[in-house]
Amino acid sequence: AQVNENVNGIRDLLSMTLTSIARDGVTLFGLLGVMIYQDPVLSLSSLVIGPPLIYTVVYLMRRVRRITRESVQINSRLIGAMQEATQGIAIVKAFTMEDELSRRIGQLANSAEHRGNKIARVSERLSPISDMLAGLAVTGVIAYSGYRALVLGQPPGAVFSFITALMLAYDPARRLARMQVGMERALVNARMIYEILDLEPQQGDAPEAAEANFTTGEVRFNNVSFRYVEEAPVLQDLSFVAAAGKMTAIVGASGAGKTTLVALLQRFYDVEAGTIEIDGQDISKITKQSLRSSIAYVSQQPYLFEGTIRDNIRYGRLSATDAEIEQAARLAQADGFIRQQPLGYDTPVGENGASLSGGQRQRVSIARAIVRQAPILLLDEATSALDNEAEAKVQEALTHVMEGRTTIVIAHRLSTVVNADHIIVLEQGHLVEQGTHASLMADPHSVYSRFHRVQGRKGLGLVDDGAPIQTPAPGPTQPIETQGIAGSAR
Ligand SMILES: Nc1ncnc2c1ncn2[C@@H]1O[C@H](COP(=O)(O)OP(=O)(O)O)[C@@H](O)[C@H]1O
Ligand SMILES: [Mg+2]
Repeated sequence: AQVNENVNGIRDLLSMTLTSIARDGVTLFGLLGVMIYQDPVLSLSSLVIGPPLIYTVVYLMRRVRRITRESVQINSRLIGAMQEATQGIAIVKAFTMEDELSRRIGQLANSAEHRGNKIARVSERLSPISDMLAGLAVTGVIAYSGYRALVLGQPPGAVFSFITALMLAYDPARRLARMQVGMERALVNARMIYEILDLEPQQGDAPEAAEANFTTGEVRFNNVSFRYVEEAPVLQDLSFVAAAGKMTAIVGASGAGKTTLVALLQRFYDVEAGTIEIDGQDISKITKQSLRSSIAYVSQQPYLFEGTIRDNIRYGRLSATDAEIEQAARLAQADGFIRQQPLGYDTPVGENGASLSGGQRQRVSIARAIVRQAPILLLDEATSALDNEAEAKVQEALTHVMEGRTTIVIAHRLSTVVNADHIIVLEQGHLVEQGTHASLMADPHSVYSRFHRVQGRKGLGLVDDGAPIQTPAPGPTQPIETQGIAGSAR
């Protein structure tokens, strides 16, 4: 919205400026020549209005500069608020937020209108002031030349061509002064665009960053600490190895730092302390481009782009053939529903996949990760929106995809985790336990076996620690997230 607003501001002025500078500049220059030729003394004396005029222009420019900036910011917020309200329209209606949102957007609109009016008022203030100054100059010239004709007896004829030139010069001079104020607005617009263009990415490549040269894809965290904000450490002194070609599962309550861990591995953020290595290469010393092209990622909130389903899967690897795309969709259990769409693979998905269900979006984004064929696979609760049956199928398909790849799975249901080669248990950013399912279950007091008891009772039927097994409850089961550890402490 800011870029748009600013570009419009510049464009409006540019067309006006180019014609005006050429025409008015030349006219004014010529007329000034005539005036000086006719009567140098009068010319100089009529320039006394120069300093107050310049002062006014400079003063107005300064005010316009500040209001323009505020106005662009408020207009952008207004557009942002309207977009947000539209995107969240289902929640707006469900929670009957219409009146409140109308009120807020109305407030922003009023404020934008107010700023717009203010800019107009300030810019227009120049006209009466410059008119008055010009009037004074003309009056002064007429009075003085009358005095010269009547009292000093000089011929009045020459003075008339001088006055004509002066009055003709007035219009172009006024337009040029106005344009100066307008120019100031455009300069603010241009500056604000460059402020955005000049933003530096926070995770820049190191000056001598090398290309990634991964052989097996072993991931190693060495004493990694990280925080988003000063007061709240998220990961603390975290060390583990995700073995090459194996499946490592990460479990922990909501907010434990699981998503943060995979974000750090992709360098969405830089670690605060410690290092992350892949095949012995410190990821902060290789280019982001080559690091990320070795990773396939399914994010916790699947995101689809405007375009067709096929396009969305192909974003995994632009060189993928149609056959590869369909194969990936089959593995992700997505082929069936895709073929039922009106145009099959060529069905547009709408903004952020709005025309698909949550589970369908998730399977398309899994297909996108499969088609990437990267040596490292990161799955962040990738099957959380699927029902048990679909999840089981996707899991089975993923075991083929995982073969020979280093996979880090953030598990939402513990049924996934049971088969992992290695399990890491996070609690509030600390690694509290690690091992295999069997070794962690061996200790009935471990955090991991507590998770299992809680989920087992919820009817997942995967309990093997002697807790009573119930028949599976109908409907979607709860992820461990929503139960938390408090539930198991009872
Ligand atoms: N962008 C962010 N800015 C500030 N804090 C964040 C951000 N993302 C996550 N957090 C905080 O970091 C902690 C870990 O979050 P996350 O890694 O998403 O947990 P998990 O995936 O295990 O549920 C949480 O306390 C969360 O509030
Ligand atoms: Mg998460």
